[in-house]
Amino acid sequence: MKSHIIGYHTTQFGELWEKSLFDLVEETIDGVLKNTHIELGKIDAIFFGNMLGGILENNLHAGAKIADIFNISIPIFRVEGACASGGMAVHLAQEYIQSGKGKTVLVVGAEKMTDVQPEHITQGLISAASGEEQECGMTFPGLYALMARVYLKKYRYDKSNLAAIAVKNHAHGFLNPTAHFKRKVSIQQVLESSTVADPLGLLDCSPVSDGAASLIVTSDPAFIKKRGGITVLSSQVATDSISLLKRNSLTELKATQIAANKAFSESKIVRKNISLAEVHDCFTIAELFAMEDLGFWKKGEAGKRAINFETLRENNGPLIINTSGGLKASGHPVGATGIKQLGELYLQLTGRAEKRQVKNIKYGLAHNVGGSGGTAVVTILGV
Ligand code: COA
Repeated sequence: MKSHIIGYHTTQFGELWEKSLFDLVEETIDGVLKNTHIELGKIDAIFFGNMLGGILENNLHAGAKIADIFNISIPIFRVEGACASGGMAVHLAQEYIQSGKGKTVLVVGAEKMTDVQPEHITQGLISAASGEEQECGMTFPGLYALMARVYLKKYRYDKSNLAAIAVKNHAHGFLNPTAHFKRKVSIQQVLESSTVADPLGLLDCSPVSDGAASLIVTSDPAFIKKRGGITVLSSQVATDSISLLKRNSLTELKATQIAANKAFSESKIVRKNISLAEVHDCFTIAELFAMEDLGFWKKGEAGKRAINFETLRENNGPLIINTSGGLKASGHPVGATGIKQLGELYLQLTGRAEKRQVKNIKYGLAHNVGGSGGTAVVTILGV
């Protein structure tokens, strides 16, 4: 039997100074068990998505630390794939289930980013880039800015085509009670925000956030009958060269294209069946790439379609993107992001998304990227 997602919990995302990494892990595990009325004794394994614990706070051997909190002895695996750590943790969890190792697995992702100085977090994040990119002082805003410059020049767009993504995702985040930013922004505000790495301004960037999220994934027919789960139709991971220098094109992410093609092929559905997706908008340019690389829109079209706000929920188009607020407004606690994306789809597909609910949806897609595109995870869910 295919794996099903039967429960979700997320903490608030934002600057959570009073909580440690493992406070957040504990809060979300308690939360998802409570939501689902499932006892910890029924969980066969835990997969933990986290990138920065070892780098920022010398906090490794996370599995044993989680075991200690809950006084358990089940297998606990830490999964690291930079900003795709959460998506990869879910991928491995469902592979574990499909292999017959266990029936019911908890997936948790967490990151604690705001306790350190901005230069430390920037340095920690860039550990996920190539050696030569690190040596020449690149940052992730810098790498995505390079790609944005090529894209804008190639397709004759300007910064407002990028800004439209921030406007849309902040409008969605405004409706999400657990989002880091629950405020709307205008094109003008995005264009006037201070430059981080030209052409990207502050409001083109996802923030530095704390937060944790968790899911329960199962193939146990009794749980599925009781909880009415959402089916994982396909989960695919692909990789590409980590360095921009080695890529054939700076206006697309090959790993996304490969993972998406495999996911659509395995799930046997077509792009038009997807009416809702959570895509990886770590910077506004990244959402334009995602829309083209996932095969929703043709190459070069995304800038134009973004400025028409085709994927804004209130425009009721055929495809709505990032109802959670995306990484941009919902926040980007790296290890939690991929899990929150699938959690948002779970809420939407089960009719629990409250003010941001999208009607009549059958399938959803989540797209989680590591670094500047060295890893991509694409997951397709169905009712
Ligand atoms: N979007 C919207 N508002 C933001 C923001 C963002 N990304 N980042 C910070 N803010 C707000 C803060 O809430 C604060 O508002 P306030 O004055 O009303 O309290 C103000 O802007 C200044 O915040 P501050 O924390 O001083 O910003 P900063 O200059 O230290 O950091 C960035 C801003 C964009 C550099 C930082 O968020 C960043 O590095 N983002 C990218 C993270 C990243 O690379 N992730 C990995 C992706 S691959």
